[in-house]
Amino acid sequence: MPHPYVLLSAAVSLDGCLDDTGPGRLLLSGPADFDRVDGVRAESDAILIGAGTLRTDNPRLLVNSPGRRAARVAEGRPEYPLKVTVTASGDLDPDAPFWHTGGEKAVYTTDRAAKSLSGLAADVVPVGPELDWRAILEHLHDVRGVRRLMVEGGGRVHTQLLAQGLADELQLAVAPLVVGEPHAPRLFGPGEYPGGPRARMRLVETRPVGDVVLMRYVPTAPGTGDRASAADRRWLELACELAAQCPPSETAFSVGAVVVAADGTELARGYSRETDPVRHAEETALARIDPADPRLSGATVYSSLEPCARRASRPRPCARLILDAGVRRVVTAWREPDTFVTAADGSGVLRAGGADVVVLPEFEERAVAPNRRLLG
Ligand SMILES: NC(=O)c1ccc[n+]([C@@H]2O[C@H](COP(=O)([O-])OP(=O)(O)OC[C@H]3O[C@@H](n4cnc5c(N)ncnc54)[C@H](OP(=O)(O)O)[C@@H]3O)[C@@H](O)[C@H]2O)c1
Repeated sequence: MPHPYVLLSAAVSLDGCLDDTGPGRLLLSGPADFDRVDGVRAESDAILIGAGTLRTDNPRLLVNSPGRRAARVAEGRPEYPLKVTVTASGDLDPDAPFWHTGGEKAVYTTDRAAKSLSGLAADVVPVGPELDWRAILEHLHDVRGVRRLMVEGGGRVHTQLLAQGLADELQLAVAPLVVGEPHAPRLFGPGEYPGGPRARMRLVETRPVGDVVLMRYVPTAPGTGDRASAADRRWLELACELAAQCPPSETAFSVGAVVVAADGTELARGYSRETDPVRHAEETALARIDPADPRLSGATVYSSLEPCARRASRPRPCARLILDAGVRRVVTAWREPDTFVTAADGSGVLRAGGADVVVLPEFEERAVAPNRRLLG
């Protein structure tokens, strides 16, 4: 199911702390960075914090700039983003300013705690016996229409979203101070993060903002099994962009493919007819990798179109090439239509060979775009 774009936002000290242990909130950023954060809030459909931050910091979580609020209204959006919190205990102060300022509010909680929250000035949404982040993100997307979600902490919420592969972007403001306390809250706690400790996120921007430095990262390590992660979406988007580069053909689809190791390293990419008039995208990408590369067994192949199951021009179709290369995970946007081959079922071939196949229909339009004239 589609999720909103999830942006984790935090300010940290040089030793990775979100706060100190003293009373009151530790101000890590300066005025210029608070204004930047205000701008990011204004671009978001919803802002989420954990109940821990709500209790400790007692924030109002508003867009403060009247100009930004007016611009939202002029675009036909609510003046304020939806404010969201999550709690399992139900321990929330109904008189906190969070509930009585800004626009709409939503609380995601457990079935058990929901009953105790009925008096809150908010839409209380029970998601089951336990909090399930995927269910929360799907509900925000499908029911609340949230396409861009800003998450402003705290550490427990950030840790879960990153570890579960659900964060599309991390915006970190690093402040020039050291907290130094052993029990101060940290940005990320222990956990099993996608790709393990050697996986590197991709740095996409650094920028001084007053005396802090803004760093923006995006995840690279693929998901595992049949569950899609934020990095899967990013790589599949790249595969769709590659498909648009294919030399046109009246007799074959335009497809893009990327092969990515479990730690997020790109092993190869390719697109249809890039090197040879009959070469498919997956074939081109796999040919660029040493067949003895041990990373292939943990790799994911991203292909804008489901890998082919049958081919006239080659002895082995792409689904078989992928299995023979040792790859056991494929993410694709579009199941092959009957245009050139009837009832092709590359996904079936892959699954029968022991591979996980993830289809992300929200990318289908992009995968179809360079092939539209072939579909009549
Ligand atoms: N520097 C910054 O940018 C920044 C930003 C935000 C926060 N902070 C700091 O971060 C600290 C708070 O962080 P935190 O980690 O303690 O709290 P938090 O992440 O804000 O909230 C954690 C709470 O959210 C609920 N929750 C989250 N995931 C859950 C799950 N899977 N199942 C059940 N409940 C879940 C629980 O609420 P219940 O306990 O109600 O069940 C849990 O105690 C504060 O010191 C704050 O100042 C700093």
